[in-house]
Amino acid sequence: MAGDRLTYNYTAYVWAPYGDFWRSLRKLSVVELFSSHSLQKSAKIREEETRKILRVLNNSGARKVDLNYLVSIYSFNHMMRAVAGKSCVAEEDIGGEMGKEKLKRIRGIFSASLSQGMCDFFPVLRWIGYKGLEKNLISLHKKRDEFLQDLIDEVKGKTDVFGEKRKNNLIETLMSLQVSEPEFYTDDVIKSIIVLMFVAGTETTAVTMEWAMSLLLTHPNELHKLRQEIDDNPGHDHFLNDSDLAKLPFLRCVINETLRLYPPVPLLLPHYSSENCTLAGYHIPKGTIALVNAWTMHRDPKVWDEPNKFNPERFRGMEMEKEGYKFVPFGMGRRACPGAGMGLRTVSLALGAFVQCFEWEKVLEHDEMEGQYDSVVMLHKAKPLEAVCVPRGRAADLLLQL
Ligand code: HEM
Repeated sequence: MAGDRLTYNYTAYVWAPYGDFWRSLRKLSVVELFSSHSLQKSAKIREEETRKILRVLNNSGARKVDLNYLVSIYSFNHMMRAVAGKSCVAEEDIGGEMGKEKLKRIRGIFSASLSQGMCDFFPVLRWIGYKGLEKNLISLHKKRDEFLQDLIDEVKGKTDVFGEKRKNNLIETLMSLQVSEPEFYTDDVIKSIIVLMFVAGTETTAVTMEWAMSLLLTHPNELHKLRQEIDDNPGHDHFLNDSDLAKLPFLRCVINETLRLYPPVPLLLPHYSSENCTLAGYHIPKGTIALVNAWTMHRDPKVWDEPNKFNPERFRGMEMEKEGYKFVPFGMGRRACPGAGMGLRTVSLALGAFVQCFEWEKVLEHDEMEGQYDSVVMLHKAKPLEAVCVPRGRAADLLLQL
């Protein structure tokens, strides 16, 4: 039902069946967004958005900060700038009610709730209009469509876009492709690509940052070790940037361990068998919806020592290709997440900068911070993460440059 209502006739990336159309979308996104060249181009956005959040934290005066809110702003602003060249929430609004309102609105537009799924398994519910779920989808689609059309019209309104072949953001790139291949790049296809960037690429990264900070706050030794790695990095005299990340293996271990314990999409996305096939010895008939339980695989004591323990070191030196299918936060194979590289850089940069610049203290007890989650599609924390941060003496010179 969500597919019928939200996907511009199944042209949206995640929903597009395997075939030529999906291949073209995948190729486009890899070239324009996820290639190393494109990731280098978008690094500047991530660095600038990280600084904005650091400024807010620095001005917080050692009071409690709402990290759930701040990492969400960071994540949505990053995506909005990559897609449309402007922020969702301006820096001056972040600290006030206006910022909260703006974030709420955009979250509402791109929320990925699939609670209507039960209508797919019990079609009678759809016929009787169960709980108005289908009506809600129709109105969500309308809201999304208006929002996206406004973004596109704004870019179209800039007269020099086509003349100078400007390609500073995804919409400008798509608009210039529309000029050369109008049959493929219709407005609907362009909108369906943008929707997916927001739906798949914002909450996933925000939720990973929130869980990672939460785990570090409850494991001060690991936090200390991470800080040590960052301080020992030859680039410690400047704000962490994209090119420092490759030199911080323990930071990557922390993020992997976070994704293992709290995979943001714990059942991955539903897969649909286009042919009869065999999966782990089970016969799967054509047309079956299969769910992969990453959460259980990541905590399986047969393949992980002390699976419920936060132990980032377990990932040090691990060669993923040799480990089989035990770690799948981004899925696997042809339909695996194409945005993994971007997601990891987005998370690593902000997390590294938080640890580089501030001392952190938790405000809740350990038990209240771990294991308490609330999951429909995405694995959110049951309570939004709050913490107290104090500027580090060692980072004083850096913070003066903010
Ligand atoms: C930590 C961050 C992220 C996580 C954990 C994550 C996780 C996932 C997962 C589990 C899937 C489904 C894989 C499957 O079912 O086999 C997926 C698909 C997808 N992700 Fe991500 N993702 C992240 C970041 C991103 C970002 C930043 C983008 C884009 C900007 C993105 C775009 C997509 C797209 C387009 C698909 C659908 C691919 C297809 O259907 O072929 N993701 N992601």
